[in-house]
Amino acid sequence: MDAPLRALVTAVGGYDLCTSEFVRVTPQRLPERVFRRFGPELANHSKTPSGTPFRIQLLGSDPEYMAINALTAVRLGSPSIDLNFGCPAKTVNKSQGGSILLKQTDLIHRITRCVRDALPADIPLTVKMRLGYDDPSVCIDNALAFQDAGASELVVHARTKTDAYRPPAHWHYLRDIREALDINVVANGEVWTRDDWRRCYESSGCEHLMIGRGAVARPDLAMQLKDPDAQPWQWTDFLAALNRYWALLTQLLERGECNESYRIIRIKQWLNQSQRGFDEGPALFEAVKRLRDADAIIGVINSAAKSAR
Ligand SMILES: Cc1cc2nc3c(=O)[nH]c(=O)nc-3n(C[C@H](O)[C@H](O)[C@H](O)COP(=O)(O)O)c2cc1C
Repeated sequence: MDAPLRALVTAVGGYDLCTSEFVRVTPQRLPERVFRRFGPELANHSKTPSGTPFRIQLLGSDPEYMAINALTAVRLGSPSIDLNFGCPAKTVNKSQGGSILLKQTDLIHRITRCVRDALPADIPLTVKMRLGYDDPSVCIDNALAFQDAGASELVVHARTKTDAYRPPAHWHYLRDIREALDINVVANGEVWTRDDWRRCYESSGCEHLMIGRGAVARPDLAMQLKDPDAQPWQWTDFLAALNRYWALLTQLLERGECNESYRIIRIKQWLNQSQRGFDEGPALFEAVKRLRDADAIIGVINSAAKSAR
């Protein structure tokens, strides 16, 4: 999720915390504007407009530069730092970032320790990992390495890199990780509904949950998980949010903070995910997915909203 989508989703309610898309750390001191672009919330006491706390996530393999850039993020207002050891993207893994590092327990320990040592003691450092690159049996050793290096919380996406995003998520590994660790373990992967969360909890024993695609597909998911009596979103609510998202992206465009193709890609991404959340999603995605013209796209969305009223 980018900042406009975080603003919309956290305004619905139910979220205790949200995280930036990963900031890719190469061996350099990144300019401040990079952090501000990934996290406009930094200028708002690191909160989304509705007040949900926000933090920066970093991805990289050079311990020193991870530490230097973590410090910049903290100086700019990030109240904690999350490290990404889960990204499966080929380009990222090829340049020694994300889930490929789960094959090198010593290195992930060194990165985490180096960042921990650099940060002020009152700034929490958390880690996100997958079960492994191709072998889930490394999950406990890696989790222990993160804990030993000073991570205060571990989010585990319950799949390996080679599992990609294919269901199922193997939540039962999280129980073993949780039992081996003293720090909080947060479950992640394949929670789209209240029922998924119940099964994830029964299998993992994790009381804390991170949701990714489910939050995009159903912006009211966290609210529903926290409050079973909450009124679920109707399709008209989703269309209204989509319209608001378009307006926020248009503001970015007008301020020169994104280009036209960004606006089009992002709205299509959200519509793509909505197929999983709403019965009407597939038809609307089908209607816009080949359109290249911004006016045509918002025209289709507006006419869907008119006919849904
Ligand atoms: C398009 C896309 C982008 C993602 N970007 C990030 C990211 O920047 N940082 C991160 O920790 N996870 C990222 N993820 C992974 C999700 O946070 C989450 O771990 C994964 O989708 C599994 O959880 P879910 O089944 O609830 O979606 C991304 C996933 C997708 C599909």
